[in-house]
Amino acid sequence: MKVGFGCDHTGIDMKKALMDHMKEKGYECVDYGAFDANGGKVDYPVPGRKVAEAIMNGEVEKGVLVCGTGIGISLAANKVPGIRAAVCSEPVSAALATQHNNAHIISMGARIVGIETAKAIVDAFFDSTYEAGRHAHRVQMIADIENDYRKGTAQ
Ligand code: RB5
Repeated sequence: MKVGFGCDHTGIDMKKALMDHMKEKGYECVDYGAFDANGGKVDYPVPGRKVAEAIMNGEVEKGVLVCGTGIGISLAANKVPGIRAAVCSEPVSAALATQHNNAHIISMGARIVGIETAKAIVDAFFDSTYEAGRHAHRVQMIADIENDYRKGTAQ
């Protein structure tokens, strides 16, 4: 599977460690930055959007995002229509984000979780399978919200 990685200035080391981890597991990893903060700041909506758009245009299948909390970068990714990005700080939620929510992206906070926990989170996310079944219509209902607003039929 091809996976896109993105982070802001707080997540560069964690992104690199997670990319190395995923490469070892046989995943093809594509880096959408930030590459080197050079002591500067990289605004999290930029990499969040890039990875989400790469998924929607088929460049990669899934994504891993890191910012300070995992929150801002996931909020940005979730603004790309069709994308479901889940912030997780432990592996159980990460597995369920795949199993129940069919999330495209796992997002983590470099200021919240340590690297070993982050590796366990991505493992749980990628080693799980979407269960569909009773979850499918709820996932469709999320898309329906976007569609209602796009069509101007939201109430
Ligand atoms: C950057 O200081 C920080 O706000 C960002 O990494 C992230 O935590 C936002 O959600």
